[in-house]
Amino acid sequence: MPDTARRAPLPPAQSPFAADLAAGLAARPKRLAPKYFYDAAGSALFEEITRQKEYYPTRAEMEILRAHAAEIGALVPEGAALVEFGSGSSAKVRLLLDAMPGLAAYVPVDISGDFLTQAAAALRAEAPGLAVLPVAADFTQPFALPEAVRGRPLVGFFPGSTIGNFDPDAARAFLAHARRTLGAGSRFIVGVDLVKDPRLLDAAYNDAAGVTARFNLNLLARANRELATDFDLAAFTHRAVFNAPARRIEMHLVSRRAQAVHLAGRAFPFAAGESLHTESSYKYTPDGFRDLAAAAGWTPGRLWTDAAGLFSVHVLAA
Ligand SMILES: C[S@@+](CC[C@H](N)C(=O)[O-])C[C@H]1O[C@@H](n2cnc3c(N)ncnc32)[C@H](O)[C@@H]1O
Repeated sequence: MPDTARRAPLPPAQSPFAADLAAGLAARPKRLAPKYFYDAAGSALFEEITRQKEYYPTRAEMEILRAHAAEIGALVPEGAALVEFGSGSSAKVRLLLDAMPGLAAYVPVDISGDFLTQAAAALRAEAPGLAVLPVAADFTQPFALPEAVRGRPLVGFFPGSTIGNFDPDAARAFLAHARRTLGAGSRFIVGVDLVKDPRLLDAAYNDAAGVTARFNLNLLARANRELATDFDLAAFTHRAVFNAPARRIEMHLVSRRAQAVHLAGRAFPFAAGESLHTESSYKYTPDGFRDLAAAAGWTPGRLWTDAAGLFSVHVLAA
C-alpha cells in the first residue's frame, strides 16, 4: 500500500514515544531507549523474567537485601521518605520495611503508570501504616516529589541494575540528577550487576522459555497499539549478545527479511538482518561503579555482594 493511502491515525504530535521511535528508526544503527518497554504488558513480562531460573539478578540482589536489611534499614532516619526509582512491582522494598521502623513514606517512581498504581495499591494493603505515594514520571527528567515528603530526610533506592541500562555518560548524568533530587545529606542505595562469565549472561538474557524474547517484541506490539505502526512481529527475532569490549549485554530486534515499517505516514526500511538496538545492560566491577558514582558527586560507602559474587548493592552518600 502506498504510504499516502495509509489511514492509520497520526500519533499525538507531542508523544515522546512517537518522536523517539521516528528518530530511532531513522538512526544508523537503529535504536530505541529501553524505557519504552514498560507499558502494563511490558511491566508484567519483566516480572515474569524475574521468575526465570536463568535470570540470576533478582535472586542475587534479594539475597543481598535480605542479608543486610538491618544495615540498610539503619541508613533510614526517623521520619524519612524512601524514594524508589523504577519501582516496578515494589517487590524488593518489602524485604526492607521491617528494618525501617522510622520510615514515614515510600515514594515509588515509575514510567509505567497503570502498573505503578496497582503495585502501590497492593503495598498499601500489606503495609497500612505506611504512606505510599506513587509518582508516575520519567525519572530521567526533572520530576516533583509529593508535597507530603517536603522537608523530610530522603533516601533513594534504585535496585534491579536499572542503572546498567544507561550508557556510561548518561549513567553519570542520571546519578548527578538523582543527587539533586534527593538533596544534601541523602543516601542512595543502588543495585548494580557485576561483570561475570559471559555464559551466565547469555543464558539470563536468552531464557529457555522465551520470556525475554516476548518482552523485547512487546516493544513492537506496543508501538502498533499506541502509535498505529505496522510492525509484523513474526518478521523480527530477539537477539541478546554480550559485547565484551563495552562490557554490556545488548538486546536487539533483528529483521528476518527486507521490509518497511510505517509510522505516521513515513516509511522506515529495514534490510534483511538489520537490527533495532533496544537495550544495553552494562556490567560493572565494584570499583568501576564506585568511580562512576564519585564522578557524579556521590561519596561511595559500603558495598555488599551475594555469596556467588554475581551482583552488588552500593550505598552512596550525598
Ligand atoms: C529493570 S526493571 C526493575 C524493576 C524493579 N526495581 C526491580 O528491581 O525488579 C526497570 C523499572 O524501571 C522503570 N523505568 C525504566 N525506565 C524508566 C524511566 N525512564 N523513568 C521511570 N521509570 C523507568 C520500568 O518501568 C521498570 O519498572
